[in-house]
Amino acid sequence: MEEREPTLSIGDNNLELPMVPALQGYSGIDVSTLRGSQGVVTYDPGFANTASAQSAITYVDGAAGTLTHRGYAIEELANSCSFLEVAYLLLFGNLPNKMELEQWQDSMKRHSLLNEELKRFFNAFPKRAHPMAILSSATNAISTFYEEYHDPHDEDAIVESAQRLLAKMPTIAAWSYKKSTGFPYIYPQNNLTYVENFLHMMFALPTEEYHVDPVITKALNVLLILHADHGQNCSTATVRFVGSSQANLFASVAAGMNALWGPLHGGANQKVIEMLSDIVNDPTATTESYIARAKDKNDSFRLMGFGHRVYTNYDPRARILKKFADDVLDRVKGDDPLLKVAEELEQAALSDEYFASRNLYPNVDFYSGIIFRALGFPIRMFTVLFAIGRLPGWIANWKEMNEDPATRIARPRQVYIGETSRQFVPLHQR
Ligand code: ACO
Repeated sequence: MEEREPTLSIGDNNLELPMVPALQGYSGIDVSTLRGSQGVVTYDPGFANTASAQSAITYVDGAAGTLTHRGYAIEELANSCSFLEVAYLLLFGNLPNKMELEQWQDSMKRHSLLNEELKRFFNAFPKRAHPMAILSSATNAISTFYEEYHDPHDEDAIVESAQRLLAKMPTIAAWSYKKSTGFPYIYPQNNLTYVENFLHMMFALPTEEYHVDPVITKALNVLLILHADHGQNCSTATVRFVGSSQANLFASVAAGMNALWGPLHGGANQKVIEMLSDIVNDPTATTESYIARAKDKNDSFRLMGFGHRVYTNYDPRARILKKFADDVLDRVKGDDPLLKVAEELEQAALSDEYFASRNLYPNVDFYSGIIFRALGFPIRMFTVLFAIGRLPGWIANWKEMNEDPATRIARPRQVYIGETSRQFVPLHQR
């Protein structure tokens, strides 16, 4: 039977609205003609019910708690792939064959150096600068070296700028950390893989040999894959929003990084560790008192690492990370009191009516910080690690948007509720 178009009734007017069918999940109702034909706009704070794009990259089934990239389950990708393979998959739609992967890895090595001029840029920040601020600033700054790749509709330029951004991100990220320590910047080495190179630039010193630990490399590879993309989240939507004005890739991604930094988004991984440390370090604090605070509507505190706009079930990335946290701690660090507190908090929240009735489960940030900590990363670098992981998702979405003929500059409407028609009073009479 043919499916009927939905009808919207406003007063006596019945308006048929076209459907935008989904292959999985919710289909969309195209409301783009509503204002012109009916004189009304849709109102949807936080875009909770608004699809801003048709996308073929990532599918999140929030009710089932599943995540796929280009049709592949996240569990399988995390188990079997390198981060660069997943980046290639997100960008180009298919997993690379052996030759494509080799070329892709080579291009990452070829472009990993930063222009020496940029060293002065890193030096200009105060030592206490948060590395996320340096990361987004440096990402924007490298656009100045590649103006020839700014055209978002030039296919070659898109690939050239994507390769440079991906290749340079570990260098930028590691240098943003070196800046805060005062230790010398370490240059990339072409005999190392992408993840090894990042670890080397983060932790090596010019004065001694540094061997990258394979256990840490493997763990970080999985963590980066788990962060690689997640549909139209706040930072990805920001990248698309900025990119819709035909801003170049570097500028669009820098904007996405700033969106990621917020504590309700990627900044939550730092906040989770601060919360768990507060509980461990304060003898009067208990998991119960933190749960009570999170439920108290007069307290702005939220249980960090809990809840998600899309998942009404356990976040599959958090499920993988919870198990992974045990393995990694066993292998590199031994016990961490924060893991025990995290498990107690999770248990208490999941059996509490407040969290159960609102479908609030741990999200990706709840356990990732514990693992980043076990791998030796300082807490202020956690959101930077998230950004390195999310970079392929941002680029893939920016690329998809620019290839989509339906793309228009993002320009939402508003429902105006301010003053109307006031009498102007000159300054000397106010
Ligand atoms: N602690 C306590 N209550 C919460 C939490 C939480 N972590 N999350 C949601 N709630 C409550 C809200 O108070 C609200 O209750 P109400 O219905 O009584 O008003 C209800 O659950 C729905 O929450 P919203 O804020 O409307 O959900 P929204 O989809 O807008 O926000 C968000 C999602 C931002 C992730 C939210 O759950 C949150 O603030 N979590 C903590 C921060 C965090 O972990 N962020 C990382 C998210 S994952 C990521 O970005 C990578």
